[in-house]
Amino acid sequence: MTRKMLVAGNWKMNGLRAHLADIAAIGDAAKAHPGVEVGLYVPATLITAAAERADGIFVGAQDCHAKSTGAHTGCLGAAMLGEAGATSVIVGHSERRTDQHESDADIAAKALAARAEDLSVVLCVGESLETRDSGSAVSFVLDQLLASLPEGAAADWLSIAYEPIWAIGTGRIPTMEQIAEMHGAIRGALAARLGAETAAAMRILYGGSVNAGNAADIFTLEDVDGGLVGGASLKAETFGPIITAAD
Ligand code: G3H
Repeated sequence: MTRKMLVAGNWKMNGLRAHLADIAAIGDAAKAHPGVEVGLYVPATLITAAAERADGIFVGAQDCHAKSTGAHTGCLGAAMLGEAGATSVIVGHSERRTDQHESDADIAAKALAARAEDLSVVLCVGESLETRDSGSAVSFVLDQLLASLPEGAAADWLSIAYEPIWAIGTGRIPTMEQIAEMHGAIRGALAARLGAETAAAMRILYGGSVNAGNAADIFTLEDVDGGLVGGASLKAETFGPIITAAD
């Protein structure tokens, strides 16, 4: 099964209109690698301007509400994000699981809401350092994955991102063996839940301190189908080499 590599940048709460030139430069870097799908999950305030300038990349949102409309001050529904120019959304990032107390059920509902508006979805899972050190990282992540997985999950609209919380923004990454073990276990769990064909087609990204120095090694692992990149995705100088490493 050939899975197209996906390299996605998550700008988190970073980016003003002054940074739109960086999006254009990242698009230029992406165009040199048509075999790699490249996207940027920008703050909601930048989605429209980024989508207008996006050439060679897709633009996504970092969250959506599980309901389409209603009395939810400050929230955005999937249709709103699509109308703004997003074609994809991240759900279940550990920063939102922690900061906004999002449950697995909330996340599955958000993914379904996004799917209903034809947005693709990246569903994030990952363990804390305490869980990793306790030796139960794989069972924790698989439980989290299966509890967050939306009904009808399919490879043409859903990707999984494995992001160990302790690797996010720390400069520290798991060993290649640990990444390979976790991605293999995730694919196995997807096969058991969704069937072998869907599991073989579904992309599983790695996220957490991906940079130009480690991306090539991570991307050679069999069950790694790209990356979800935070800090290094803010500039073409640092994101471009990661896109290149995926080609
Ligand atoms: O969504 C992206 C991840 O949280 C990784 O962030 O590359 O800055 O470690 P990072």
